[in-house]
Amino acid sequence: MKSDQLTITGFSKLSKKEKINWVADNFHSDPQKMKEMLASCCHSDEVQQKVLDGFSENTLSNFPMPYSIAPNFIINGLPYAVPMVIEESSVVAAASASAKYWKERGGFTSTVINTIKIGQIHLTCDQDEAIINKFFEDNKLSLQKSCSDHLVNMEKRGGGLLKSELISFPEEEDYYQIRMSFETCDSMGANFINSVLETFAKALLDLHQSTYGDRSRLQVVMCILSNYTPDSIVRSEVSCRIEELGQTANLSAVQFAYKFEKAIRIAQIDLYRATTHNKGIYNGIDAVVLATGNDFRAIESCGHTYACRDGQYRSLSHCSIEDGIFKFWLEIPMSLGTVGGLTKLHPLAKISLDILGQPSAKELMQITAAVGLAQNFGAVRSLISTGIQKGHMKMHLSNVLHQLKATEKEFKMAIDHFKDKIVSHRAVREFLDVLRKVDPAITKR
Ligand code: MEV
Repeated sequence: MKSDQLTITGFSKLSKKEKINWVADNFHSDPQKMKEMLASCCHSDEVQQKVLDGFSENTLSNFPMPYSIAPNFIINGLPYAVPMVIEESSVVAAASASAKYWKERGGFTSTVINTIKIGQIHLTCDQDEAIINKFFEDNKLSLQKSCSDHLVNMEKRGGGLLKSELISFPEEEDYYQIRMSFETCDSMGANFINSVLETFAKALLDLHQSTYGDRSRLQVVMCILSNYTPDSIVRSEVSCRIEELGQTANLSAVQFAYKFEKAIRIAQIDLYRATTHNKGIYNGIDAVVLATGNDFRAIESCGHTYACRDGQYRSLSHCSIEDGIFKFWLEIPMSLGTVGGLTKLHPLAKISLDILGQPSAKELMQITAAVGLAQNFGAVRSLISTGIQKGHMKMHLSNVLHQLKATEKEFKMAIDHFKDKIVSHRAVREFLDVLRKVDPAITKR
């Protein structure tokens, strides 16, 4: 088939049914099966489906992901059951196990250190640096006033624009940046920040033109918030006396503490390990961020930038052993909201916030950081003791058995059989083949 037959103009204008037909007929070997599958994942309530469709463009259906709970978190002395959306086997199990483990040792202490968000107006200007600097400083306040329509509500809530500064970059001729700092309270603040930036930039251009009479001398390249928020930091920590760590598999408390500390130090100095290590942290963080309708891409990109702020990518978590105390902590930038965006629109995000007791954005940062730390603790604990595959393979076995449509009886027999054997798709299929050959009726039980 020619490639122009497989492209289309005006796709977005088609009805949902027409879109599905076009994709199914042109891109799927079994159009009917595809249509049935898409239909089966749609919300049974048309109103709810319309809400979901409103989040994106060209929607055909929904993509279901498991919605889970990690219970037993004690954070700042309060109990939480934390909603998590993640598809990876054993992440929720690890978070829950760590939560329970630390519940018995005083729980997590989380603190929000600051909550400043950044927006940037990127400019070019061919005037002398001293002239543009003076122009900016002389007019900064009136330019900020031009944004008051956007600022007034945020100021009522205790936030607003905190600071704007003009920065030059010697390495890029004519390039300047207006960097603005914001407090956005319980909202993530992306729309608010971007609106302020665009209004400020327009007022700046108008004022510059009326002052110098030539529009081409100062130009706005772009206005956008920065997802890097190194001044919006949350810290979460667990600690106990070494002997309270107890026995972990074949490791005594002391052996565990020092092996764990070594593992964290390795992730501090080696970027290959650091990447996987931090991925484990984001297994937990992303899952909570998704479950609460926040932007996991923003949170991740920010964290990874922060992880290499001194020039080398390093672990985001730290461990110390001093005076017999084992301490493990995470200090991480995070920009979360509990109002605005999807937080109240997505039906399950709303439920997640209910389950968490309608937290403020700061409380959500504290909870999310604790889950990231729990996840990291669980992963490293397994890695240095039993190895990760034991837990993973249990979940993998269950996934493969589901895929092969194993019955309850087959499930039980397979779990018993693979207790001490390597799980692979092929090995499980062969095991079921033998079972089904010996006893064909087993597929009914
Ligand atoms: C797997 O999703 C995450 C881990 O690789 C994290 C780690 O290695 O620390 C287990």
